[in-house]
Amino acid sequence: MFHAYCASCHGLDGKGSGPAASALKKQPADLTLLAQQSGGKFPAMRVMNSIKDGTQAGHGSKDMPVWGPIFSTVSSDSPAVVTQRISNLIGFIESMQVK
Ligand code: HEC
Repeated sequence: MFHAYCASCHGLDGKGSGPAASALKKQPADLTLLAQQSGGKFPAMRVMNSIKDGTQAGHGSKDMPVWGPIFSTVSSDSPAVVTQRISNLIGFIESMQVK
């Protein structure tokens, strides 16, 4: 799922250098540094909110697509399945943190 939905901007390695990144005004976040930037603790809630409701840097500019509604409409899956997908994504991002 990360490859399909996220790597175009964040890059396959999560470092923010996907093929679409240069077309964006704001550079995609380096997803491998989230824990390091948060004092060593992976900010799972923040990641969850970013994915579901969009990022809120710079007074609500939303350069990143909001995925909650997209994940809810691409399939007829139940909300529980959508939540499971998002948890899986968060787990994957957590696994790419540099220590
Ligand atoms: C169209 C390009 C694009 C795609 C596709 C994209 N992102 Fe992003 N993402 C961004 C940009 C740009 C930012 C930085 C925006 C900001 O800071 O407001 C960002 C920021 C984030 C952040 C916030 C990091 C932080 O510091 O809190 C997370 C988490 C994130 N993306 C996860 C994802 C995930 C997971 C996916 C796939 C479901 C995804 N992104 C797909 C462009 C994208």
